[in-house]
Amino acid sequence: MRASHPDPYRAIDAQADPDKLIQSLEQRGRTRSHAQLRRRFLRFVGIRPAERVLEVGCGSGVVLRDVAALVGPEGRVVGVDPSRRAVDIARSLCAGPEHRRVTVRLGDGMALPFSARRFDVALAVTVVLHVADPQALVTEMARVTRPGGRIGLQDQDFGTVAVTHPDRELTDRIMRGVASRIYEEPHSGRRLPGLLRAAGLDDVRLRTGVYQDTDLEPYTKTFLERRAENAVRFGIADATTVQRWLDGFTRLVADRSFVMTMNFYGAVGTKPGRKTAQ
Ligand SMILES: C[S@@+](CC[C@H](N)C(=O)[O-])C[C@H]1O[C@@H](n2cnc3c(N)ncnc32)[C@H](O)[C@@H]1O
Repeated sequence: MRASHPDPYRAIDAQADPDKLIQSLEQRGRTRSHAQLRRRFLRFVGIRPAERVLEVGCGSGVVLRDVAALVGPEGRVVGVDPSRRAVDIARSLCAGPEHRRVTVRLGDGMALPFSARRFDVALAVTVVLHVADPQALVTEMARVTRPGGRIGLQDQDFGTVAVTHPDRELTDRIMRGVASRIYEEPHSGRRLPGLLRAAGLDDVRLRTGVYQDTDLEPYTKTFLERRAENAVRFGIADATTVQRWLDGFTRLVADRSFVMTMNFYGAVGTKPGRKTAQ
């Protein structure tokens, strides 16, 4: 099978090396700044013991494992992902006794394999960015959430990437050029509250977290290397130029002057109707 869309997360299983993409989710999940902003977002959504929580686009299960700790032994956590390989890996990483209440299913967020009002909370963490019709995804998440339940979305926003580099013009060209060719909406994060309101949800709130790295952690390094590869692929810069660009980051790390930040927007809304669990 050949991948046609430039965003590899649209169709993980169609990529040349699906495991590499899935491993990068685990790498990101372990990165301290990312773990902090992900867990802050889950606290903002207000996940409580004994709740039934759905995560759409669960990937390797980084968020499922965090949510399992919050809902405890009386809760239930369900992950859905359209990638067969991601589902297999998430199942194996959620196999321990502490994750007994976690199940993972193959499925598309646009047509969830669940009846209406089944969950207390539905989440999509860095998924809206990757889907063709974000509004349809949020509407479908609202369908499977009970009245009074919450829908929580978290997404990065590539319009907010700030990174140190001596060649600012080249950095802007690569960052903006690559993101605009891969994603329909590179500024996905800032649109999340609007998507929740358009889906008819109440009490929509926003909390912005900042990913921050001053050490060029493995996740950041992979992120910049992928930007460099794609810059060559899209004809934004040649291979020699992008190698020089990557070397510039390495030198900044050696001088202890490297900084990269990026906003992650977290938004939550409540489905109108009855406030008590069914
Ligand atoms: C960047 S990963 C995020 C994984 C996980 N939520 C996390 O934060 O680690 C995006 C995920 O969305 C999934 N995805 C892509 N299209 C989807 C769709 N239409 N419905 C549900 N999930 C989708 C991908 O397979 C991938 O696992």
